Amino acid sequence: RRHDDGSEKSKASSEQDAWEEQQISKSRLQFGSKDREHAGDGYELVFDDAVEFVKSAAMAGTEPEDDVTDELADEIDAKVTLQKELQDERKTLPVYKFKEELLKAIAEHQIIVVVGETGSGKTTQIPQYLHEAGYTANGLKIACTQPRRVAAMSVAARVAQEMGVKLGHEVGYSIRFEDCTSEKTVVKYMTDGTLLREFLGEPDLASYGVVVVDEAHERTLTTDILLGLVKDVARFRPDLKLLISSATLNAEKFSDFFDMAPVFKIPGRRYKVDIHYTVAPEADYVDAAVATVLQLHVTQPPGDILLFLTGQEEIETVDEILRRRTRGLGSKIAELVICPIYANLPTELQAKIFEPAPPGARKVVLSTNIAETSLTIDGIGYVVDPGFCKVKSYSPRTGTESLLVRPISKASADQRAGRSGRTGPGKCFRLFTEHSYRKDMEDETVPEIQRSNLASVVLSLKALGINDLVNFDFMDPPASEALLKALEDLFALGALNCRGDLTKTGRRMAELPLDPMLAKAIVASERYGCSEELITIASMLSAGNAVFYRPRDRAPVADAARQRLNAGNAGDHIALLNVYTEWEQSGHSAQWCLDHFVQPRTMRRARDVREQLGALLERVEIERRSCAGDLDAIRKAITAGFFRNIAQRRRDGSYRTVKSWRTVFVHPSSGMARVEPPAGWVLYHELVETTKEYMRQVTELKPEWLLEIAPHYYHNNNLNKPEPKKAKAHGQTSSGPVVAEKPSLNLKDFFDV
Ligand code: CDP
Ligand code: MG
Repeated sequence: RRHDDGSEKSKASSEQDAWEEQQISKSRLQFGSKDREHAGDGYELVFDDAVEFVKSAAMAGTEPEDDVTDELADEIDAKVTLQKELQDERKTLPVYKFKEELLKAIAEHQIIVVVGETGSGKTTQIPQYLHEAGYTANGLKIACTQPRRVAAMSVAARVAQEMGVKLGHEVGYSIRFEDCTSEKTVVKYMTDGTLLREFLGEPDLASYGVVVVDEAHERTLTTDILLGLVKDVARFRPDLKLLISSATLNAEKFSDFFDMAPVFKIPGRRYKVDIHYTVAPEADYVDAAVATVLQLHVTQPPGDILLFLTGQEEIETVDEILRRRTRGLGSKIAELVICPIYANLPTELQAKIFEPAPPGARKVVLSTNIAETSLTIDGIGYVVDPGFCKVKSYSPRTGTESLLVRPISKASADQRAGRSGRTGPGKCFRLFTEHSYRKDMEDETVPEIQRSNLASVVLSLKALGINDLVNFDFMDPPASEALLKALEDLFALGALNCRGDLTKTGRRMAELPLDPMLAKAIVASERYGCSEELITIASMLSAGNAVFYRPRDRAPVADAARQRLNAGNAGDHIALLNVYTEWEQSGHSAQWCLDHFVQPRTMRRARDVREQLGALLERVEIERRSCAGDLDAIRKAITAGFFRNIAQRRRDGSYRTVKSWRTVFVHPSSGMARVEPPAGWVLYHELVETTKEYMRQVTELKPEWLLEIAPHYYHNNNLNKPEPKKAKAHGQTSSGPVVAEKPSLNLKDFFDV
């Protein structure tokens, strides 16, 4: 159904590149004829430098006229006007009226819970107020954490603009693998995960004077862990101010957790929202959503539309359908400007959602949950809510984490509806029945900590010296079964010893901002002499799922290109390594990407990630070495991290996971999906559940490696063990290792559950 995805993408990405070029040239100023000569020598001033230049020239009493073109003067005028508008706009936000009162409350109390509707100015204004009030005068920074990368970046960009500074100077952001801050930075937006990592290097957060835990109502896994950690830090750092900010009125819980901290309520402005339900359940919410959007567009008075979808893929589909349909209608309808927004959307494109639609046109924003509370888009008059979102769920029994599309909670549905009533009365179209709202939906979303794999946070906590996890101050404690599973997993990876203490391997793993299994594979690469290759593979895996594209009209060429990179069916991990290596040898060429049907954006991101992983290797003292094409060395290092993700082929072509006897399949996007003869034993990076359970990023391995690399996890003494109540396994492949009954870790020794 979406095979032509690729062609759209390839076109989109070349358009994207052109657009980037344009933005870059726009942001730099060209100077008059005299200076243009210099420009040829790479002499280009960026805008802020130009303003500085004009200012200093004015101060020095000279006339800058000679050096300044009309164009420059106009741009400066425009900038001054924009600044004035921005400052006026700031004063209209609900929080503005409470500025003094809020600052007073902060001065008087160490910890405050701030509650206010989305869009009242909590995220963008409060850090600025604190900065203006002198909380950064002592050289300390203000941290403001966000659950989502996109929010951290876009909010920082906005605040930098409001403060009239360049992003990354006084105002910056820091997210995993991307640090846009400098020595000057005093207001720092960051993901909650980034602050959690900073704890490792600075357990008392000494460089911060204020920490704002923003969007706390989202209750992400890392937010919950942070809440426990900052509460503890606040006890021994009485000078540290702590703000917990939430968009929902259910703030008592935060106040209780922080020993009855005062709650500061910012009365919101919220207009009436008319809520419409469908009379019968919708069979296909994507179709229903498209139809609703188009119908609203042609029948309703001005006002932008916000449609909530579950993820990037779905957003891209709807984007494409809407484009096709509106193109078909041509000039019969007003223009519809389609703006997607999701976590992996490139930074440069994110700004687009905040731009007003041209006169006469209507904007439709296609968004994931991110627009529910983290981002505020002005001018939304209509919300279309299919009532679904992607949620993580985790089964400690099988150790599988899956991302599933599930109905949202009532609280989410109400938040979503509210997005239409910010600037005037709004309308919300729910693509579900009133009955299902009242009877089927949960009141609140279950906090993520109660439905996640905890291995990663347990490793971080252990690295922080927090050993007594049962008595850690959790707002809502995770299931003890999940905590146990995390400890078992970390033990099996060699990150913990049998007493549950962090090992040297574990300490190194904790330094790498990656899933513990991937971190272990990198640490293990030292032994196999292939750390260079492993950081490349890890970077490619972290850079996003969209490495290749496959335009329908050129599918055979694309497949051939891909097949070649998948040299000798060596597996997806090696293919990723090949892609990166060839791209690097091409001098990071965009043309190479085009020729090989590879997304240039993913490659650029992989390069950034790789650079940082390289620096981290040095920090954990792992020598950077290349194994020069010894593929088994690379595969063994990967196995050292992923030995639990193993599956064996069955006669019917499906695979059975060795760990939990689940029936799984090779994902159709994998280079291993069409390999002949098919691999008997495979290792996979992750399982994704759609229509079936699929293994993504698959590599063949030799079963004896499991005995060599993870003897504590696999043993060979009962080979040929038949599957329970099933036909005998595939003759040729049945003699392989089987999982040891239990890892030889006695949890009772150190963990009292
Ligand atoms: O955090 P809260 O939801 O209370 O509000 P905010 O994110 O501080 O947003 C305040 C205002 O800033 C809103 O009216 C947004 O439209 C605007 N804003 C923006 O224009 N661009 C951004 N990247 C972020 C906010
Ligand atoms: Mg906010």
